[in-house]
Formats: sequence, structure tokens, C-alpha cells
Amino acid sequence: MEIDGIQIKKVASVGAGVIGYSYALKFAMAGLDVWAQNRTEESSELARERVAASLESLVKNGVYTEEESAAIAGRIHYTTSIAEAVAGAQFIQESSAEHYEVKWGLVRAIEAAADPTATIASSTSGLLVTEIAKNAKHPERFCGGHPYNPPHLIPLVEITKGEMTSEKTVERAKAFYAAIGMEPVVLQKEALGFICNRLQMALYREVANLVLSGVCTIEDADKAVTFGPGIRWGIMGPSLVFELGGGKGGVSGLMNHLYDSISLWLADMADWKSFPPEFAQVAQEGVDAELAARAPEVGNDPESLAQYRDHMLIELLKLHKKL
Ligand SMILES: NC(=O)c1ccc[n+]([C@@H]2O[C@H](COP(=O)([O-])OP(=O)(O)OC[C@H]3O[C@@H](n4cnc5c(N)ncnc54)[C@H](O)[C@@H]3O)[C@@H](O)[C@H]2O)c1
Repeated sequence: MEIDGIQIKKVASVGAGVIGYSYALKFAMAGLDVWAQNRTEESSELARERVAASLESLVKNGVYTEEESAAIAGRIHYTTSIAEAVAGAQFIQESSAEHYEVKWGLVRAIEAAADPTATIASSTSGLLVTEIAKNAKHPERFCGGHPYNPPHLIPLVEITKGEMTSEKTVERAKAFYAAIGMEPVVLQKEALGFICNRLQMALYREVANLVLSGVCTIEDADKAVTFGPGIRWGIMGPSLVFELGGGKGGVSGLMNHLYDSISLWLADMADWKSFPPEFAQVAQEGVDAELAARAPEVGNDPESLAQYRDHMLIELLKLHKKL
């Protein structure tokens, strides 16, 4: 794989926990040699077990043969040394704990051993890239590469820039993620929660409002999303959905036509700046009731639900030609 004239021969996943093991797997699934770093042998063993379990599920769902799965697993090398993981790597994904102090230590250790032309992306969910890279010798080569869990299955990656991040770094990260089959989006300026978490929480705020004001149950809100807009959003985004919904007028026709009506809905909807504290318990009780009513084949406890989700996700990803 060649990115911006650089041959990508080795990549590193520093901090191979929940996100880092899955990123390592994604890189290996794309045919790359990966060094997955953990602080202890025990954590490396856990990462190895997680890789094996994820590959087993991919084999069970017909994505890979046993031989392909073994070849992918064989491309992941485990180490407790950051220097060994990053030396000679052209792309480095950092997925350590979400604290500035930890990330600063990692930045120092990575820069001490990494090739000066390596691109370094942080999986951070909410820390500022500017702050993470503030003590770096080369802050221009740091960016954010925020995945959705698990990155070996969810294609989206949100690329964020710090004040010192160079355009070259953003372009290289974007090209790299695209080349391994992910779907990068670049945030043109910093936004708390990035794009996706904001969208998720905007919708979930209204779920809470509908449930707390007695309009529907948690189960019916879930059903409404799953078998209504959600099933379309798995295919295309809301603006494209509305483009079709607007007929000849497209999305602008739809927005103009429904303007007055939408304004009435918006005026009636929640615009809270925080969730009512009682909602967490209401949501839990609603989910418990919903799970109890589900058929076992679609998952009726957290474990079978996760298996069902992964199976459906894999089938959808196959349709999207992402697996
Ligand atoms: N879990 C998610 O759903 C999710 C989603 C997107 C992004 N992220 C981000 O990914 C990063 C990792 O999250 P995670 O859920 O994989 O966490 P995790 O706890 O599973 O893994 C963290 C890794 O960092 C290492 N680590 C912890 N403290 C360290 C220290 N002091 N020095 C060096 N290494 C240390 C751990 O050994 C482990 O390998 C975070 O920045 C998080 O915000 C998480």
C-alpha cells in the first residue's frame, strides 16, 4: 500500500485495549503488518484472545476462511515495548487511556522511537489534539483518528486536527484510512463530541423527551428507529433520504414544503442542555422490559444481543462491500 509516495510496510497500534486490539485487527485485515503494544504480557494475551474471538465470529459469518483468518492473526505482532512497536512504522494509532497525562507520556515515548515521517493518530474520544501534542517535537504530524467501537467492523473514522496539525498529516491519515476500507470524515474545526456523538445524542435527547412525557415506551422508540428511519440510515444519510423524500423538489423542496409543520414540531421538542437525571433509570427499566419481550434469535440478553448485532452488522457491511 502506498500513501503520498510512502510505502506502508508497518503500522503500530499503541495501547491495544478495547479499541487498540480492534484497530490492530482492522490493519491486519487490510493486509498490513501490525505491532500491537500493551504494557504487560497479560494485556497482550487479552488482546490476542480478543483478536481470536473477533476472527472466529468473522469466520462463522462467512467473511473469512480458517486459512485467511490464520493469515490475518499471523500479521499481528504483540509487544510490551512502545519503541519496538513504532520503530520503522509509517502509521501509528495511539489508543491509550483517555487522560492528557497518559497521552503526553505516550507522545514522548512514540516520538523517541518513531520515524520522523510517521503519521500519528490518536483515538481520543474527546481530548484536544492541540493539547495532546503540545509537548511534541513534531506536533504537525499528530491528528485525531476517532473510531466507533469496534473499528474492525464500523467503517467511520473522524479525523480531527489540532492547531499545529499539518494539512499533509490530515491528507495522509485520510488516504490511509480510506485505503484500509474505512470511511474517514475530516472535522474542519474542533467540535465537542465530534460529528457522530452529537447526532446520536440529539436523537437520544428526543427519545428521552418522548418517553418521559408519556408519548411512547423505550421499546416503541427503539422499534420506531429500527424499522423506520434507522433502516434507511443504514443505507444512506438523512440528507440523501430527504432528497428522495422530497420527490422532484429534492431535499430543498422537502424542507420548504414542510417548513411550517417542522417549525411546530421543533418548537415542541426538547432543547435541554442536560438529560433529566431520572432518565437513566427509566431507560434501564425500559430496556430490561424490551429485552424480556424479545425472541431469543434476535437477542434477549446483552450477550445474545451483541452476537445478533455483530451478525446483522457483518451482513450489512457485506452489502456495502466493506467486508
Ligand atoms: N471504548 C470505546 O468505545 C471508544 C470509542 C472510541 C474511542 N475510544 C478512545 O480510545 C482510547 C482507548 O480506549 P479503550 O476503550 O480502548 O480503553 P482500554 O482501557 O480498553 O485500553 C487502554 C489501553 O491503554 C493502556 N494504558 C492505560 N493506561 C496507560 C498508561 N498510564 N500508560 C500507557 N498505557 C496505558 C492500557 O494498557 C490499554 O492497552 C481512548 O482514548 C478512548 O477515548 C474509545
